This record gives sequence, structure tokens and C-alpha cells, in this order.
Amino acid sequence: MGEKKKTIGILTSGGDCPGLNAAIRGVAKPALEVFGMKVYGFSNGYRGLMEGDAKELFQSDMSGILTIGGTILGTSRESFKKLRKSPELIQKMIDNYKKYELDCLVVLGGNGTHKTANLLSKKGLNVIGLPKTIDNDLYGTDFTFGFHSAVDIATGVIDRIHSTAQSHGRVMIIELMGHDAGWLTLYAGIAGGADVILIPELPYSIDRVIEKLHERETEGKKFSIVAVAEGAMTIDEAKMSRKDYKEYMTNLPYPSMGYKVAAEIAAKSSFEIRVTVPGYQQRGGQPSPYDRVLATKFGTYGAEMIANNDYGKMVSISGNKLTAIPLSEVAGKVKLVPRNHSLINSGRLLNTSFGQPR
Ligand code: F6P
Repeated sequence: MGEKKKTIGILTSGGDCPGLNAAIRGVAKPALEVFGMKVYGFSNGYRGLMEGDAKELFQSDMSGILTIGGTILGTSRESFKKLRKSPELIQKMIDNYKKYELDCLVVLGGNGTHKTANLLSKKGLNVIGLPKTIDNDLYGTDFTFGFHSAVDIATGVIDRIHSTAQSHGRVMIIELMGHDAGWLTLYAGIAGGADVILIPELPYSIDRVIEKLHERETEGKKFSIVAVAEGAMTIDEAKMSRKDYKEYMTNLPYPSMGYKVAAEIAAKSSFEIRVTVPGYQQRGGQPSPYDRVLATKFGTYGAEMIANNDYGKMVSISGNKLTAIPLSEVAGKVKLVPRNHSLINSGRLLNTSFGQPR
């Protein structure tokens, strides 16, 4: 008698990003066509697993999705804090895992997603994670899929702002996503030739930022590009406790970080300033070829892991080599930009300001 064919469930959780469909296809196509597995897609992340909302996926569902942004499964953000304290919700997920007779659950997501993945793994479910997020802040992998697509979009914004900045001689602030990490702003800032890059990992002095803008003016450069991470903070703000900082930020009158930095510059100079916030565009549209390849590599590697009964891990890339890291090592950690990152050094050598005190 042959071995029972495996059944797997796939879900996409947390903020969406380009490359999710490529990753779904990367897992499901080999699962269906090479390993003869049965595949279910759960709707809207862990919510679908809680509600038992799944549909079987077939080869035809994988056609034409490689190049499409978003996720064919839908996604949701489920608070891990809330989930951790809700045994009934955890039990619902376990019950539905059993109801669909899953041999493995494949979760595509970022930090929160992998915390829940680890929790379910500890409860005895077979789980595999694939690292996705435009923030690139997931511990245990050099890169997440979605990141490079977002860098492309953000760089495109900076490129387009450059010409209008030059025409009007303005200081242009471009606020980029990334949550508490500066990866996206650092990469897009360097790729777009920003004059000032402000990231959370390097708290800034506004005086140093203004000094840089004046320095450019003195050199005859009438415009400047300032790339600001949504999580950027001043040196004084960085000294606050997380709770105090949160409260302080909610009481500020600015819609978002770019406007705050603009106000700080305006308070101490006479530059003409404009702010651009590309926002969710950074998560939208087609995945870049790089991300299609990365998501496909992660997905197919994951499919092979399932075939080999290798569970409880997140697929990752380390120095261009695919590998897998235990979920328990990933969960609860964040990968921030190290202060000695080579791109920061490159920026400094290019005379890019990070708003750092001397
Ligand atoms: O994690 C991706 C991300 O786009 C962050 O860069 C941003 O801070 C956050 O999600 C926005 O979250 P939401 O989609 O819940 O508005």
C-alpha cells in the first residue's frame, strides 16, 4: 500500500506585499504536481484558520498568479498579544487543522505571523513559515520577499521627485514605510541618491540635518532630497521609554513622520519644503523579477521540506544560500539595520547625511 498523500494548508497573514502569489504558487505547484499533495488555501490569514474558511486549490488556481500583486487568499492582521491570551481561538485553529486533516500548515508572513506560527508549532502542529514583508525586518533571513519590490517603488518616487525638486529649488521630504526598521528607507535612499537619510536605527539631530541642507546651498545646490523612515526619531526621542514615546507621538499634531521632520526643519530655517508620502503604493502592484525569483525559491524549498517531513522552521536566505531556521529562533525578534551596515558606510563615504551628531 502506498503512503497516504499529504494534505497542506496555506495562508497569508499580516500586511500584504508583492510576491505573495508567487510564493503561494512556489509551494502549491510542486505540492500538487510533483508531490501529489492536496492543498487548501485559508482565507484572510489566521482568521480563515479560526473560522475554518478554506477552499481546495488546484493547478488551475496557480495559473497567471506569478506576476500579480496582493494575495489571492486575502490577508488580515490578528494581534498576537490578543491571540496568546485567547485559548479558545488557538483551539479553533487546532480544531480546523485537524478538521481539514492537514499534515502541514504553510504560513506566509512577517514578525507577527511567525510568532503565531511558533505558538501553533509548540501546540504540536506541523508548521512552515515563508518570510514576507516590505520592511525586511524579519530575524533569521537576509531578505524577505516583497522588500525589493518596495525598494523599486520607493526609489521610483525619489527619482521622480528629483526633477521637480531641482526645478523649484525645494527641500523635498519623502516618507517611506518600514515600521520600526530603516531597511526600506536606507536602500531606496541610497538607490535614489537622497542627500539626507533618516532611519530609526540612527536617531537624528535636526540641527545636523539643517546644516547639511545649508551646506548643499553653499555648494550651489538649491534643492535637497530627504528620505525619512516612518519610524525615524530624534536623539532625544530615542532616549524615551517605548510607552512614553508612543504617547508623545500620538499627541503631536502631524499626520505622519515626514510632516514632523518638515515642521522641525521649517522651525529653524527658511527652506521651501514639500512632503510626499507614497504610503501603500509601496505594497502595491506587481512583484519585481527579483521578488518573483526569491518568493519562488522560498516556496519551492518549503514544498521540499514538507515532502521531507521537515517542519517547525522558517525558510530563509543567508548569503545567497537557502536554508531554514527553527520558528522558536525567529519568533519575537526583529532585525533592525545594524549601525555598522555597509550601506550606511557607503552613504557616509558619499557624503550623505544621516543627521548624526559629530
Ligand atoms: O509591515 C508592512 C507595513 O506596510 C509597515 O511598513 C507599516 O508600518 C504597516 O505595514 C502599515 O500597516 P497597516 O497595513 O496595518 O496599515
